[in-house]
Amino acid sequence: MSAFKTLDDLGDVTGKVALVRVDLNLPMNDGQVTDDTRIRAAAPTVLELAEKGAKVLLLAHFGRPKGERVSTMSLSMVVGAVEKVFGKEVMFVPEIAGDVVKQTVGILRAGDIAILENTRFWKGEEKNDPELVKAIAANADFYVNDAFSAAHRAHATTEGLAHVLPAYAGRSMQAELEALDKALGKPEKPVAAVVGGAKVSSKLDVLKHLVTQVDHLIIGGGMANTFLAAKGVDVGKSLCEHDLTGTANEILDVADQSGCTVHLPYEVVVSKEFAANPPSLRTCNVHEVAADEMILDVGPLAVEALGDVLKTCRTLVWNGPLGAFETVPFDAATVALAKTAAALTREGSLVSVAGGGDTVAALHHAGVADDFSYISTAGGAFLEWMEGKELPGVAALSA
Ligand code: 3PG
Repeated sequence: MSAFKTLDDLGDVTGKVALVRVDLNLPMNDGQVTDDTRIRAAAPTVLELAEKGAKVLLLAHFGRPKGERVSTMSLSMVVGAVEKVFGKEVMFVPEIAGDVVKQTVGILRAGDIAILENTRFWKGEEKNDPELVKAIAANADFYVNDAFSAAHRAHATTEGLAHVLPAYAGRSMQAELEALDKALGKPEKPVAAVVGGAKVSSKLDVLKHLVTQVDHLIIGGGMANTFLAAKGVDVGKSLCEHDLTGTANEILDVADQSGCTVHLPYEVVVSKEFAANPPSLRTCNVHEVAADEMILDVGPLAVEALGDVLKTCRTLVWNGPLGAFETVPFDAATVALAKTAAALTREGSLVSVAGGGDTVAALHHAGVADDFSYISTAGGAFLEWMEGKELPGVAALSA
């Protein structure tokens, strides 16, 4: 990981104007924020800057309005939720550049906070237009990026601003980068990765990259069926991308050449229908799946064996559930392996990093999210990091 500056490198910021890029792309229902995790993630940086006397201007996108003002995507709607988390009054400004922002800066006192409008209302945001970058930067003294979850976008406020203003990583960005570095940058070996989820096609690049990086790759979820089919196993009615068996075999070959052991389930939980506690539920060897059955989870003995693999490892990266975890009892394997990982982390023998929306939900469901070393709430950015890609927002901070 290249070096980046943090808030510790800031001098006296009293009265200085900070542009802070945060991720306020929040889940909403009926105009109400339903999950404030991202606001809480931004709070330490924003409040630290406010306490140090900066005038804080928050920049964020919300939804995908494609360069138009769309009233249902105005950031004015999240102000109340932000004030609640910050415990402070927050001003809303319906612009991101120009005279209105200039006047706002004039009114704000040291330590005040304002949220500027949804950056994606301006076409130049997604185009990373230098003119827009210049106009936004004109009202500020320095830039802080605290939005790792948007760092895979090379947009004006996630990338461009870092080149024209003194740029710093916020506390949440800093924590994320340090945790990710421990997991795949300079990890303690042996390293295991768990990759689950429905489809191989959505995580092809992740799998291709990981087999060259980790010692053990544990594949679960629907995507394991495609690998099993590639090895000649009859997976019955299971979700399976039969057109990708060739690709799956290529990935297995690369793993072989790289010294990565790929673990596929040898025992599975199957059913004739996908429903909670179905009558046809049974556990069997992977070679005994009937033509009218589908694989919905990894079996208990196979999970125990996977737990034994984790016991030999020092680092774990986890993305995606092992089974159809939203439906009981197909959450069992994910819950059991997550509990093993959590216990090993508590004992201090494993550094465990997990990320992605489904994964975070699964770990909360297993009641172990707080025991993992680090949980990333980023979706697309976490996956691109797992693909080994350089994230433009991060690269710009290190430039
Ligand atoms: C997210 O919600 O994952 C980030 O805010 C990025 O949003 P985007 O996929 O619309 O760029």
